[in-house]
Amino acid sequence: MDRIVVSGGTALNGQIPISGAKNACLTLMPAALLSEEPLTLTNVPRLSDISTMTELLESLGCEVASLQGGRVLAIGTENITNHTADYDIVRKMRASILVLGPMLARDGHAVVSLPGGCAIGARPVDIHLSGFEALGAELDLRDGYIHAKAPNGLVGTTYEMPFASVGATENLLMAATLAKGTTVLKNVAREPEIVDLAECLRKMGAQIDGEGTSTLTIQGVDRLGAAAHQVVTDRIELGTYMLAPVITGGSVELLGGRRSLVSAFSDKLEAAGAVIEETANSLIVSRKGEQISAVDVVTEIHPGFPTDLQAQMMALLTLSNGTSVLEEKIFENRFMHAPELIRMGADIEVHGGTAKVHGVKSLKGAPVMATDLRASISLILAGMAAEGETVVSRVYHLDRGYEHVVRKLSACGAKIERISG
Ligand code: EPZ
Repeated sequence: MDRIVVSGGTALNGQIPISGAKNACLTLMPAALLSEEPLTLTNVPRLSDISTMTELLESLGCEVASLQGGRVLAIGTENITNHTADYDIVRKMRASILVLGPMLARDGHAVVSLPGGCAIGARPVDIHLSGFEALGAELDLRDGYIHAKAPNGLVGTTYEMPFASVGATENLLMAATLAKGTTVLKNVAREPEIVDLAECLRKMGAQIDGEGTSTLTIQGVDRLGAAAHQVVTDRIELGTYMLAPVITGGSVELLGGRRSLVSAFSDKLEAAGAVIEETANSLIVSRKGEQISAVDVVTEIHPGFPTDLQAQMMALLTLSNGTSVLEEKIFENRFMHAPELIRMGADIEVHGGTAKVHGVKSLKGAPVMATDLRASISLILAGMAAEGETVVSRVYHLDRGYEHVVRKLSACGAKIERISG
């Protein structure tokens, strides 16, 4: 398995282009199933998760043309020959469940493997399922698969989510676009990726109001058509690379960055000691002085502090001048980067969903292990600030969500390389 070797102590200076959002793409791609006409996506990031979703759509009978080195995907969905999303694909990527709503809405039936949990939590899909039942679907869970039927089509309804689940919002929004009548979804997620999905569905002919708020109102239509859509900028990659010059020193320009995508995170990063300047098409980030200040963080649903930036923030706060308290309120097991940071000399106490981070003067490079996607990048951030060499193993986690991480960081002066084998 590949490893990434980082030698710390170098300030970062330069530009990093921010790619299209993985988590937008993973719902935009299955949205293509709602129409028999093609969907063309641009600004697609080249990530293993995108390849997995491509493999899944092709297994259903879609034709996915990857153009311009993978930056453009043209998805043809004329002939869906298979309505079963197999476990061997779904287990690789939980977002596979996002084909359920579109297939159910388009053809009235779908069989999708239950995604199972992952390192950061059990990640049930009960909200997806109760939403589909509210839309009139008949569900049968057996053999580890969801067998869903709506022989007479889905019927618009009012459904209030018990929790503002991102994936459930996306699945139900997509299904509702072809349901009969009006659907009102309450207590939905408000992430920018959901706004992006609504904008793409509207280009396909969907009638949607309220994206970005807690209530979505959808007027069902008989069919959706072709569309072309540019994937929104990845706010989690943006936040990750904003933090890099704050932990190492220096100044980095994030091309395509907009503060509106990361406002809660930016407020906390400034409180920790960042200087953030917004230009016409970028954010320029540097550290104010030598000190990193302790700040408390609570992860929340959007527009609160994103759980996907918690591990990165923890890496920064290990070097602060005080004690920070991080509360992880979205996932039940998302502090697996803490023991690895402790191996590098960090002083962190984890009690359930709360981590107390006592700042230390310096971190020491060490061999560490990536446990999940965002933990992996937090170890690289820490390694860039540590004294000596850090070797991060199991970097396949990284490939799921960060395109060309070595190239992007090396271009700003980081001493980082990938060792195959
Ligand atoms: C999406 O996951 C993202 N993934 C995650 O990013 C992100 O962390 C998460 O939203 C929260 O922002 C994609 O978009 C592909 P949820 P999702 O449904 O949709 C519970 C990354 O690093 N829940 O909002 O699975 C669940 O257990 C990944 O890029 C239920 O209980 O997130 C969790 O505790 C990691 N029942 C919480 O809600 C349900 O039916 C948030 O889950 C669904 C969710």
